[in-house]
Amino acid sequence: MKIYIVDSYDKISEKAALIVASRIIANPKSVLGLATGSTPIGMYERLIDMYKRNVIDFSQVTTFNLDEYYKLPKENEGSYHYYMMQRFFNHINISKENIHIPNGMADDVEKECREYEKKIEKAGGIDIQILGIGTNGHIGFNEPAENLNTTTSLINLTGNTIEDNSRFFEKREDMPTKAISMGIASIMKAKRVVLLASGENKARAIRDMTNGYINTNHPASILQAHRNCILIIDKDAAKLIE
Ligand code: PGA
Repeated sequence: MKIYIVDSYDKISEKAALIVASRIIANPKSVLGLATGSTPIGMYERLIDMYKRNVIDFSQVTTFNLDEYYKLPKENEGSYHYYMMQRFFNHINISKENIHIPNGMADDVEKECREYEKKIEKAGGIDIQILGIGTNGHIGFNEPAENLNTTTSLINLTGNTIEDNSRFFEKREDMPTKAISMGIASIMKAKRVVLLASGENKARAIRDMTNGYINTNHPASILQAHRNCILIIDKDAAKLIE
């Protein structure tokens, strides 16, 4: 695991965007694994800017998002569909058919999960997986537990995550309590993983994912076993690394 400690959130965003852009330049048909939340917003802004300056072209790029809330319509402003369209996809030349986000409204969730895995496989696997990290160490919505899901599954969100993410909803009661998420193996199969973290509230999670032990109660710790994982974090998030 390579750890880059940078000065600011802006530098995290810049470095992450350059890594993604260079991958797309090297292979215009790249398959990207994408994340939502506050952390990747700056990266998306920079990628949009590079697209507008003709530095990168998304016309042949394929994307797979990590997760989506269960039973939250796409049109809901709290949904990850809405987030991705507003913050990224509406501003670049990606083909709609190359965008994949789990369908949280699917009647048959198990089928949706199975098919999501198949689609990733059919696309040739993920070239670069962008990740954030929860304050509880989750990646995607793989929450701390004794048993973690290997493949895309329906997850019960923990109280900690509901607390953290309810800021994206008007009322706490509006925040869904379940989500569909790519599993640990889906993430570990990515050829390269880039995890971004900013701020002191992530310092413990970063410490516990870099301490030399893998612990399912800290799902991100498994990334220590990934061959090509990069952490791009600011000084505040790096504070407690031993
Ligand atoms: P955040 O979320 O970027 O909004 O902090 C990260 C995560 O929960 O994975």
